[in-house]
Amino acid sequence: MPSLPPAEIGAPFSEIDTPALVIDLDAFERNLDAMAAAVGKLGVRLRPHAKTHKSPVIAAKQIARGAVGMCCQKVGEAEILVAGGVKDVLVSNEVVGTRKLERLAALARHARVSVCADDPAMIEQLALAAERTGSQIEVLVEVDVGARRCGVRPGPAATGLARQIAGSRHLSFGGLQAYHGSAQHLRTPEERRAAIASAANATTETLRFLDEAGFACRTIGGAGTGTFELEGASGIWNELQAGSYIFMDADYAKNVADGARNASPFEHALFVLATVMSTASGERAVVDAGHKALSNDSGFPVVRGRPDLRYHRPSDEHGVLEFDNAASKPAAGDRLTLIPGHCDPTVNLYDWYVGVRGFDTPAARVEALWPIAARGAVT
Ligand SMILES: Cc1ncc(COP(=O)(O)O)c(C=O)c1O
Repeated sequence: MPSLPPAEIGAPFSEIDTPALVIDLDAFERNLDAMAAAVGKLGVRLRPHAKTHKSPVIAAKQIARGAVGMCCQKVGEAEILVAGGVKDVLVSNEVVGTRKLERLAALARHARVSVCADDPAMIEQLALAAERTGSQIEVLVEVDVGARRCGVRPGPAATGLARQIAGSRHLSFGGLQAYHGSAQHLRTPEERRAAIASAANATTETLRFLDEAGFACRTIGGAGTGTFELEGASGIWNELQAGSYIFMDADYAKNVADGARNASPFEHALFVLATVMSTASGERAVVDAGHKALSNDSGFPVVRGRPDLRYHRPSDEHGVLEFDNAASKPAAGDRLTLIPGHCDPTVNLYDWYVGVRGFDTPAARVEALWPIAARGAVT
């Protein structure tokens, strides 16, 4: 059962209960528009990642701006997206186990479904599940282009899997998944350029073997918010999967923008609104947002507009703020806006987005309450 939303539509900003996951709707829409413009200029397709937002409502806004469909990581996320009206979903991940494959195949009767694979046994089971349900599934062979996670080695290995996929009446070979996850948060543009150049070489080498065997790729997919301009301009990738650009977390803000530009085209649009619940010690302030309100795996949140306050020492329901001097000390009841360290797992902690219009103005109001429909969809 989802919890009740922490605010009502039309309520002023000051009446949002905390901790709450709030979206600055103006910044969020600028981020959506900036990415749509960027991929338009690059001349590639955008298939944004729904692992970031887990929301068919947000997916619809991305599709309305030209995205060809959505990516997600889990079958459960794909089910929620399709139930919410998305017609084209790529599970950009390996799906293993009969029950999950049956669910994926069943879903493919209601939407265009594609999935990644790097293993012959998985492809065999997927083909059986698709045959049993009478559905058609497109498969991208995942190549490990540097992330050292899933995917076959670059080179000839993908060709054997492509042949197996093409040999099934219920599967079709769609191309390659070539996502370099660990390149996304490399801090300097030079490091990111080198990583994607290496991923491009690995992908090109793989494509050479596929080409020799007569396999064409409709899709070469990959890229995230940190590197999408590099993949998009490479002439190799034709479908980009960025997700975090809609919200921009504190960790992404540590990436140094490319020298050609002064700053990232995207702004922080997602925040955790927190309240100072204790200053009794005199030495610290304690906010009502700890591990259950913020994911701290990529670093602690940053207090927006308050460089004199530093969040640290989270426990389950508390976060401790350090401050420089007495003048900086917040008072109990003060409300602070925290920029999460990592947006995706923070989103997964909440049932509701609270969308605020006029975020930084005295007229700031709750305009939208969107359920995080795929929260907890981990299977
Ligand atoms: C396969 C895949 N594609 C794209 C992304 C999106 O990356 P980002 O949220 O950094 O834009 C991710 C994120 O983990 C991913 O796993």
